[in-house]
Amino acid sequence: MQIADMVADQLAALKAEGNYRVFADLERVRGAFPAATRRSGAAAAPVTVWCSNDYLGMGQHPGVLAAMHAALDRSGAGAGGTRNISGTTHDHVLLEAELADLHGKEAALLFTSGYVSNWAALGTLGSRIPGCLILSDALNHASMIEGIRHSRAQKAIWRHNDLADLEAKLAAEPLERPKIVAFESVYSMDGDIAPIAEICDLADRYNAITYLDEVHAVGLYGPRGGGVAERDGVMDRVTVIEGTLGKAFGVVGGYIAASADLCDFVRSFASGFIFTTALPPHVAAGAAASIRHLKHSDAERQLQRRRVAEVRARFDAIGLPHLPNPSHIVPLMVGDPVKCKFISDTLLDRHGIYIQPINYPTVPKGTERLRITPSPVHGADDVDRLCHALEDLWTQCQLARMPRAAQ
Ligand SMILES: Cc1ncc(COP(=O)(O)O)c(C=O)c1O
Repeated sequence: MQIADMVADQLAALKAEGNYRVFADLERVRGAFPAATRRSGAAAAPVTVWCSNDYLGMGQHPGVLAAMHAALDRSGAGAGGTRNISGTTHDHVLLEAELADLHGKEAALLFTSGYVSNWAALGTLGSRIPGCLILSDALNHASMIEGIRHSRAQKAIWRHNDLADLEAKLAAEPLERPKIVAFESVYSMDGDIAPIAEICDLADRYNAITYLDEVHAVGLYGPRGGGVAERDGVMDRVTVIEGTLGKAFGVVGGYIAASADLCDFVRSFASGFIFTTALPPHVAAGAAASIRHLKHSDAERQLQRRRVAEVRARFDAIGLPHLPNPSHIVPLMVGDPVKCKFISDTLLDRHGIYIQPINYPTVPKGTERLRITPSPVHGADDVDRLCHALEDLWTQCQLARMPRAAQ
């Protein structure tokens, strides 16, 4: 069999399983987001985006855009090299200082994405620390899993957010063995939140360090947007905090914040840091402006919380089964891959509402869902249109309602 045939066969199999991904071709409208234009050949249609990870609309914040325009005019387009070979610009230095300050750490280190930061940092720690064991939460993101795999360190997977299971796995190891407990704060598909303080207690008791992915929390939680660890007053207890600049901060890039030595260690040994072109300076400048703004302004976070509560209350009133959780993520459970895709397609084609269906393998079979992310830039009209469209589609698909609807 030829390679071209193997490629075609696997694509055909993916389509037959219903797991083939189709991109929506969107053009975000600055100043009007979540409004966007959906392109399809020569046709264009207006849509409202309800599944963006630009959680606070910072991707269109005037201060962020102004900082990016100014840096572009000042420094040009690209960084021009890896961080080591002429690619470290003053905007990178300032952004790393901003991030270290955000998390109350001695230092921070930038990467080209959150994915790369997890892959490179865990890969480097796991491979360079002799005899290291990485204790990884069962629902950790693919980037953490790939980093751990790449490190070739021994891995122990503990049941999701299960302190007893984590403790059993820690207790089974010699106290002196180097150990890293790797976990997330907000888990992006269910929207549940880890008990960070209790995990730090266990790490202290069993001589482990902690590695916390706050990708879905930075900018959103804590008085200055430092994440759930800031909200819970435990940032100083977490050894490494990892985050993204591409979600609540609205730009792109990833980072770790930790001690000066630990950042220096990753900087010195991580191939995913060393051998790639640095982020463009204007991207760094935009991210720094976004972080600075959210350190001082709580308005976006408050308005987001109001919108999330409003959407949940409206879903309750019409009996739409959303997963209860303490975060900003509203998973609307469909539980059937075909209906999930049908609802998503119909929302887009008939109602101009874009919510990507989340099917297996991203979530387990039978838990297919629409992952909805209300934001401060969604208006009351947007919420009305969303609820009316979903109510019709729920009836059309003969999906069960929560008992509350009958009350
Ligand atoms: C938990 C988690 N960590 C890391 C990442 C990667 O971050 P980025 O999108 O900046 O590459 C994601 C991306 O969606 C994520 O969900």
